[in-house]
Amino acid sequence: MTDKNVDISNIQELDLIEEALGVAAEQLGDITKPVMDNYYAKYPQVRATFTELSLNKAKEMEGEMVTQTIYSLMAIIQNPIVTKIMLQEAIVNHLYLKISLEDFNGLIDSTTDVIVGVLDSEFSDNISALNRVRNRLKAVVAAAYSNIQTRLVINTD
Ligand code: HEM
Repeated sequence: MTDKNVDISNIQELDLIEEALGVAAEQLGDITKPVMDNYYAKYPQVRATFTELSLNKAKEMEGEMVTQTIYSLMAIIQNPIVTKIMLQEAIVNHLYLKISLEDFNGLIDSTTDVIVGVLDSEFSDNISALNRVRNRLKAVVAAAYSNIQTRLVINTD
């Protein structure tokens, strides 16, 4: 167990996240719109990125990326090694598309914030689990960006 003061199995952590997702789905239905409203309010420059990269089908791509983010939040618990490899590959592509680390991790934050936002105090364990896992996922993403950027610099020398 690497997290401080945490004595919780992966299965319990996954259950807490699934329960939180269930509450969010009950209250909000598809969470894509609230997530993207939150995201574009904090990262307004990314709206144009979604429009351009999706060839004007931003809604579809927004839905796909929010789904990928939720998937990654669960997969990093269930299968951290495979998920790190999957993210490493995806991030090479995102870097080529000039998507910054801040914008990438901003979507992870906005997605998690919207889910946390529907949970009241009786869900404090779920909120803690979501915050731990979001931080773990963001750290994996930051490490991948850093590794890839280092390799790209070396390769272009
Ligand atoms: C920051 C905003 C983001 C933008 C603008 C963006 C854009 C894109 C685009 C254009 C593609 C390729 C086309 C497609 O499959 O629809 C893609 C694929 C993908 N994205 Fe994102 N993305 C973002 C954030 C994220 C985040 C936060 C995650 C996961 C945590 C993610 C995971 C993936 C994966 C797994 C794929 C498919 C594999 C690949 O193409 O490498 N994306 N994204």
